[in-house]
Amino acid sequence: MEPQNNISNAFCSSLLLFSMNLLFLQHVSTATHLGNETDRLALLEFKHQVVNYRDGTLNSWNDSLPHCQWQGVTCSYRHQRVTALNLRGHGLVGSISPHIGNLTFLRFIDLRNNSFNGEIPQEVGRLFRLRHLNLTNNAIGGAIPVNLSRCSELRIIELATNNLVGKIPPEMGSLNKLVTLFLRANNLTGSIPHSVGNLSSLEQITVTFNNLEGSLPIQLGQLKRLTYLSIGVNHFSGMVPQTLYNISTITSFSVGENLLKGSLPANIGLTLPRLQVLGIGANQFSGTIPYSITNVSELQVLDLPENNVKGPVPNNLGDLKNLRILNVGINLLGTNTSQDLSFITSLTNCSNLQRLDLDGNNFGGELPNSIGNFSHQLTELGLGRNQISGIIPQDSKDLPTCTIPSNLGKLQRLQQLLLYGNRLSGQIPPSLGNLSQMYSLFLAINRLEGNIPSSIGNCQNLQMLELSQNRLTGIIPKDVMSFSSLSKHLNLSQNSLNGSLPQEVGKLRNINTLDISNNKLSGEIPGTIGDCSSLEYLNMQGNLFEGTIPLTLASLKGIQHLDLSGNNMSGEIPKDLGSLRFLQYLNLSFNELEGEVPTKGVFKNASAISVVGNTKLCGGILELNLPPCPTNVKKHGRPKAFKIGIIVGSVVLFSMLMMSFGALCFWRKERTRFSSGNLIGSGSFGSVYKGSLQQGKERLVAVKVLELEKSGASKSFAAECRALRNIRHRNLVKILSYCSSIDSKGNEFKALVYEFMENGSLDSWLHPEIVEVNTLRTLNLLQRLNIAIDVSSALHYLHNHCETPVIHCDLKPSNILLDNDLTAHVGDFGLARLHSGKTNDILQQQNSSIGVKGSIGYAAPGMILSYFVLDLDHRYVSFS
Ligand SMILES: *[C@@H]1O[C@H](CO)[C@@H](O)[C@H](O)[C@H]1NC(C)=O
Ligand SMILES: *[C@@H]1O[C@H](CO)[C@@H](O)[C@H](O)[C@H]1NC(C)=O
Ligand SMILES: *[C@@H]1O[C@H](CO)[C@@H](O)[C@H](O)[C@H]1NC(C)=O
Ligand SMILES: *[C@@H]1O[C@H](CO)[C@@H](O)[C@H](O)[C@H]1NC(C)=O
Ligand SMILES: *[C@@H]1O[C@H](CO)[C@@H](O)[C@H](O)[C@H]1NC(C)=O
Ligand SMILES: *[C@@H]1O[C@H](CO)[C@@H](O)[C@H](O)[C@H]1NC(C)=O
Ligand SMILES: *[C@@H]1O[C@H](CO)[C@@H](O)[C@H](O)[C@H]1NC(C)=O
Ligand SMILES: *[C@@H]1O[C@H](CO)[C@@H](O)[C@H](O)[C@H]1NC(C)=O
Ligand SMILES: *[C@@H]1O[C@H](CO)[C@@H](O)[C@H](O)[C@H]1NC(C)=O
Ligand SMILES: *[C@@H]1O[C@H](CO)[C@@H](O)[C@H](O)[C@H]1NC(C)=O
Repeated sequence: MEPQNNISNAFCSSLLLFSMNLLFLQHVSTATHLGNETDRLALLEFKHQVVNYRDGTLNSWNDSLPHCQWQGVTCSYRHQRVTALNLRGHGLVGSISPHIGNLTFLRFIDLRNNSFNGEIPQEVGRLFRLRHLNLTNNAIGGAIPVNLSRCSELRIIELATNNLVGKIPPEMGSLNKLVTLFLRANNLTGSIPHSVGNLSSLEQITVTFNNLEGSLPIQLGQLKRLTYLSIGVNHFSGMVPQTLYNISTITSFSVGENLLKGSLPANIGLTLPRLQVLGIGANQFSGTIPYSITNVSELQVLDLPENNVKGPVPNNLGDLKNLRILNVGINLLGTNTSQDLSFITSLTNCSNLQRLDLDGNNFGGELPNSIGNFSHQLTELGLGRNQISGIIPQDSKDLPTCTIPSNLGKLQRLQQLLLYGNRLSGQIPPSLGNLSQMYSLFLAINRLEGNIPSSIGNCQNLQMLELSQNRLTGIIPKDVMSFSSLSKHLNLSQNSLNGSLPQEVGKLRNINTLDISNNKLSGEIPGTIGDCSSLEYLNMQGNLFEGTIPLTLASLKGIQHLDLSGNNMSGEIPKDLGSLRFLQYLNLSFNELEGEVPTKGVFKNASAISVVGNTKLCGGILELNLPPCPTNVKKHGRPKAFKIGIIVGSVVLFSMLMMSFGALCFWRKERTRFSSGNLIGSGSFGSVYKGSLQQGKERLVAVKVLELEKSGASKSFAAECRALRNIRHRNLVKILSYCSSIDSKGNEFKALVYEFMENGSLDSWLHPEIVEVNTLRTLNLLQRLNIAIDVSSALHYLHNHCETPVIHCDLKPSNILLDNDLTAHVGDFGLARLHSGKTNDILQQQNSSIGVKGSIGYAAPGMILSYFVLDLDHRYVSFS
């Protein structure tokens, strides 16, 4: 039985072997099958966690297609396993499912530029084949998962611009194939782990814009392949390890905005020969700028501002042919001697120079005229807050005393020129007006003299103009006020400018800060200032301004700081200043203001306002300690005794009288250009003056100035323009012109200019006033009949012969004007309406607020003439 047994044993073994093989084979195929099913399920889970997708990318992830053909999914050819997930920039919102860890064949994940939130699941640690993980620009929070360090094949980790918190896991030091580690713009804390030195393949690391702290590990110096080191805007402190300066492969070394100390090694140019960017700004570096830096021929950016670097700037910086940015501002460079700026000339060799910033150092001496030979790429030139002075040899003959080289005008691309806080004297070269790209020009705090060149008005992109604290004289050129671009600030304070503030100030619609204080400016403050609708800070103190405070100041809705102190302003304080919601500081002290101090808004707060030194003010809040106002000063006072019902009527009448009187006074005061002697009449919306036009032969005209304060006046103006636009008849008053603009106080001004009618209105003939007694005039019957015919023919024309019938609506003797041979002309179309002609409806171009009188078919009561006329044309009488 043994052999049999053996045989059977052998048979059994082979059978076993066979079936094992069979089993094994079966196992393999099941594994593959199960594997791709696992992937499918994991992808569906991934989809499940994405709560919103903009472009429907994940709609394709359905059963109608095998998952390897789903959008963004890549599978391996042989095993049909998912190897890459590429879903960048699809607007995906949601969290990353932990089931992603089941996609064990994944090598490449790119979810950048979506809106993933939640955390990176620890399960990514199961992706042991992962090489490339890009989650840049999402909203992922939580910590960097420690298990990520188990993905030992990782080459690229990019997690920049997310909300990651916590520490950089020291375990990541094991990723010895890692080339790129980008963690920029998160909220990581802690320090850079020492294990970073074990990332022996690392070439690029950035942790800029985090909350990292501590000292930089000396182990960074072990990264022999490092080219890109960017750790700026953190709280790193202590010395920069000298070993870092020994990594000769580095091209970009940026450590700005930390608390780092130390000095640049003297041989940096030899140890870091490939540097393109050296940025150490806003730290506590000391020492000098190493001369060897000029050996780094590829250097493009030398950015050392806000440190304690001292000594001279190497004279041969111009050897750095590729230099684009040289920023050494706010250091201790220079020795306030004439040699300090000698390096500038060599910089003219740097044909790519875009920015030169030497601001806030101790550079003395003169500004070499070679500055004009700088690269025409230069956009920013900052030399402010130094000791620069002296007269410079000019190549321009016309400005012998100018210490700002007029050559600067050649730098066409210059956008920023900062020369403030030096000792520059002489005049501002007009050639600066050639710098049409300029957006900030700072020449403040120097000894500049002469006029402000009006050519500066050519700098149409200027947003900030700072000329304060110089010795400038002359007027403010109106061109300087003409840029609407000037959006940030204009400061001309502390000079000796005279003349008035140009009307054009109103064009500074975008300006935020306007300071013209402490000059010798005089005249009235133009009302156009109310158009500077973005103003937040306005300082006019210490000038010789006079006249009243423009009411238009109350339209500066965003104003926070308003100072008119130390001028000769008179009149009352406009009450409306109290309605400026953001006003926190109002200084009206030391003027000649009078009347009542308002009590609303800013006037409620004694610490926010100052009105001292105005002897004629009264009222206001108690803290101001002003005398009470005499009651009759109150214009709008409503004495309680008058509350008795019986005399309400007379109060109304009285106040109407007062108001019209007040309006007249106000109006007389405001419109000084038309003297009251020339007043020839007044109507509902304005007054009519006699005037003359001098174009060749003198021609008399009547000018109707609308009182726009009255509601409806603007509409009346529009109605009149519309009505008279297309009509012409011998019995209509001819309109010669109109004006619609802003007057010298900034008030809206609208006027109509008519032919002058020597014989005045029919009303003045029918109802002569006492004053006209000595020129008493009467009309005989024939004249009256002729006038009636004139008026009726005018109306006939208006009603029947205009393209769109015009209905006067306010026909009365005072609107019928007589010329020198007593021919009647119908005037005042302020209430006129255009009639559609087809139906009875009126074109609703006006609303009824215009005035109760303006109704169709209206004619002044008792005006026989009008009835007569209207009878001829009774078609329109029947309306109303
Ligand atoms: C899964 O693998 C099996 C076996 O290799 C194959 O037949 C099937 O098509 C794969 N499924 C997908 C969705 O790729
Ligand atoms: C992923 O793997 C885990 C652990 O093996 C398992 O529990 C889970 O069900 C898997 N997910 C899917 C979607 O298959
Ligand atoms: C499933 O995907 C296919 C193409 O990938 C698509 O045409 C179809 O509309 C999808 N089905 C649904 C229900 O979204
Ligand atoms: C991010 O995605 C949006 C929309 O998909 C796109 O407009 C934007 O240019 C992308 N940004 C980057 C940096 O890819
Ligand atoms: C993370 O890694 C640890 C081993 O370091 C392991 O025990 C744990 O299961 C992993 N966690 C996940 C969620 O994969
Ligand atoms: C990762 O995404 C960022 C942001 O879109 C991109 O700049 C970067 O090149 C990507 N990295 C790789 C290796 O593709
Ligand atoms: C960053 O974290 C700090 C505290 O760790 C927190 O105060 C700060 O608000 C966070 N900043 C952002 C942008 O999340
Ligand atoms: C770096 O790696 C070496 C060997 O691979 C190991 O001994 C050492 O502990 C690691 N250092 C850190 C800080 O992880
Ligand atoms: C820098 O490298 C040189 C030679 O490669 C070496 O002599 C020197 O000690 C190194 N300096 C530092 C601080 O590591
Ligand atoms: C550095 O440059 C200077 C001249 O600027 C030159 O004399 C010197 O040889 C250079 N050094 C090296 C190491 O190239």
